[in-house]
Amino acid sequence: MIDNKKVLFSGMQATGNLTLGNYLGALKNWVTLSDEYECFYSVVDMHSITIRQDPAALRRRARSLLILYIAAGLDPEKNCIYYQSHVSGHAELAWILNCFTYMGELNRMTQFKDKAAKHADNINAGLFTYPVLMAADILLYQADVVPVGIDQMQHLELTRDIAQRFNGIYGDVFTIPEAYIGKVGAKIMSLQDPAKKMSKSDENPNGSIYLMDDADTIRRKCKRAVTDSLGEFRYSDEQPGLHNLIDIYCACTGLTPDAVVKEFSGSGYGQFKEAVGEAVVSVLDPLQKRVAELEKDKAYIDRVIKSNAEKATYYSQKTLRKVQKKVGFPSFS
Ligand code: TRP
Repeated sequence: MIDNKKVLFSGMQATGNLTLGNYLGALKNWVTLSDEYECFYSVVDMHSITIRQDPAALRRRARSLLILYIAAGLDPEKNCIYYQSHVSGHAELAWILNCFTYMGELNRMTQFKDKAAKHADNINAGLFTYPVLMAADILLYQADVVPVGIDQMQHLELTRDIAQRFNGIYGDVFTIPEAYIGKVGAKIMSLQDPAKKMSKSDENPNGSIYLMDDADTIRRKCKRAVTDSLGEFRYSDEQPGLHNLIDIYCACTGLTPDAVVKEFSGSGYGQFKEAVGEAVVSVLDPLQKRVAELEKDKAYIDRVIKSNAEKATYYSQKTLRKVQKKVGFPSFS
């Protein structure tokens, strides 16, 4: 608890271009949480180097992501928006937690197996202990809730196991975090293959709408979205392409699927796709303008980065000190 509020932690990597799915499914909904929770949103650049990165590109992307958090409406006075690498406690706690995590547990992580297969030439120890760093992120702030996608649930489970193990030995040190299940965002699928999630690492660029796509590109991608040959305007699992477009339209306009089906029941798919394109443009265009404005205000962003890193450092040190003492490290005095 901080100021009588529960603590929420989440992180995103600045690798790949963020998509409409990331925005509608996650970022957009985070904005409403800061009244209820003390929120920490980290740009987890330390996780990013488990895969080889171009340094200049990583720095640029990390800053863009941080700016995007703010442009999406996360007030940096209320939400702690910071770079993971600016707060040394993450690495320090991760080391300690490494000593409370079993090889067998890490060996079972499906994301490790996937990434190891994908980057067979660079299966480094950091990739293996990635989930321990993630546990450190969460436990460092005594987070009560963590909004995560289904793909990160296994890591969150491991975090809970590590925390419980540590508490079992040393007493109540860590808050046991839970997955955040509140109003979840829309689950947006690929425009080209509605069985797959819209992803920033999709090889087919037409499958994803990127947050920085220009209006014409957005319209074109929507127009080319895969639908079906039934020709019926329904909101049905049997028509996953159309279902996904309706979800996107609803998330952008605030309408319900029923209302959309009523409005477009007499129209062809082509006409609806055009409407979806316009709806997405009307959401992303103002977002892009805010990003551009914030990018110009270098001094402001730099101030946010510094003050929020200090805030994160303050809270992280409280936990870290406690943990160091518990495991037997000497204090200064
Ligand atoms: N591993 C997460 C992902 O790739 C990012 C992440 C790092 C994270 N640390 C976290 C998410 C802590 C939630 C909480 O999506």
